[in-house]
Amino acid sequence: MKKLWGGRFSKTPEQWIEEFGASISFDQQLVLEDIEGSLAHVKMLGKTGILTQDESEQIQAGLLKLKEKAEAGELEYSVSEEDIHLNLEKMLIDEIGPVGGKLHTGRSRNDQVATDMHLYLKKQVQVIIDHITEMQAALVGQAEKNVETILPGYTHLQRAQPVSFGHHLLAYFWMLERDKQRFQESLKRIDISPLGASALAGTTFPIDRHYSAELLGFSSVYENSMDAVSDRDFIVEFLSNSALNITHLTRLAEEIILWSSKEFSFIELDDTYATGSSIMPQKKNPDMAELIRGKSGRVFGNLISMLTILKGLPMTYNKDMQEDKEGMFDTVHTMVGSLKIFAGMIETMTVKTDVMEEAVNQDFSNATELADYLAAKGIPFREAHEIVGKLVLYCINKNCYLLDLTLEEFKEACNEISNDVYSVLSPTEAVRRRNSYGGTGFDQVKIQLEQAKKLI
Ligand code: ARG
Repeated sequence: MKKLWGGRFSKTPEQWIEEFGASISFDQQLVLEDIEGSLAHVKMLGKTGILTQDESEQIQAGLLKLKEKAEAGELEYSVSEEDIHLNLEKMLIDEIGPVGGKLHTGRSRNDQVATDMHLYLKKQVQVIIDHITEMQAALVGQAEKNVETILPGYTHLQRAQPVSFGHHLLAYFWMLERDKQRFQESLKRIDISPLGASALAGTTFPIDRHYSAELLGFSSVYENSMDAVSDRDFIVEFLSNSALNITHLTRLAEEIILWSSKEFSFIELDDTYATGSSIMPQKKNPDMAELIRGKSGRVFGNLISMLTILKGLPMTYNKDMQEDKEGMFDTVHTMVGSLKIFAGMIETMTVKTDVMEEAVNQDFSNATELADYLAAKGIPFREAHEIVGKLVLYCINKNCYLLDLTLEEFKEACNEISNDVYSVLSPTEAVRRRNSYGGTGFDQVKIQLEQAKKLI
């Protein structure tokens, strides 16, 4: 079939080579952005008198018809038209005749494809920001119900000090808040119009780039036409922000997987987010959390691919850049899906407050309390640490915990200890008294919750 660019060619490629070079199988996801970009371009061509008003309007009508068909899923793409841009241009000419061939005046596929991707990511990054906010709301919801639920806090995955479960969940809230800020900040660099940069050097036609940018809702235009068509930093930045965002999700996924194991039993996932085993009837697997942990692999991979594609590329457009799309689409779909699942999973999980509390009563995570207690009585902290360490060893040998010791046993270790030690050692009191700013003390967690709620 004759190509739209076929003038200087005497042979058409074999079909398998054509298929290898084509991007229509995936860049059809940009159909609406491509039409939107063309509409702005052709309105600009009419306004500047490069086309007559009548020509501009005929083309706009044709594009709107294609838009309707696209929305109804009625467009049929062909590999021999290579990509979404040539497919649509061909369809436009079929729809309204040779005047359709005037759409491409003063434009190239190079600024066209860049415009499409800026439009696409601008929308999708906002969608991702909204999903992050939903997940934050789910965390706040659970945190609010669990301000006074205590569980062991860990370092090195060893029980360290008791904490409020609400506090633990809110740690993820703040990670997500930083992710959201990074996505928001990146919008500045997505929200720029490359349209009118043409192939690389601008155009001889008296176009108005600011006008088409304004029609498309872009805040500014690229200052340099060569940069405009070769810049993919905004995609790298999107992929990098996504990689960090999903890293945070994998940390929570890992905790959810641990917590829902028999060994921890701190939570039970809603059935919707778990699956059974084909052979072991008792199983309830935290599949969705595992899957998201695994999906981080493709998101990291997409970032590395994009960096590798760009590395060493000379100015300006190179066909290598066609490889920028699949990783971007895949990352958008992965992030939206993962965030959505996570919001539901957090919201619907059952928190086993009794098991968590039982856990803090069955460990030495109150040992710091005793050391602080002695330090408050004037014993140098280093000595207090030693005294309590010995008491812990004593308990381990006796197979009991600190709260099981008699006052005589305490006094034997240190005569400064008196009856009030028992309330000091209570895990709930240990949490309550950690009232330093940003600490896990219940009052602090409540203050933190108020701050968090302002951000959702
Ligand atoms: N399908 C191409 C891409 O995705 C569109 C731009 C093609 N430009 C060109 N000069 N061949 O990158």
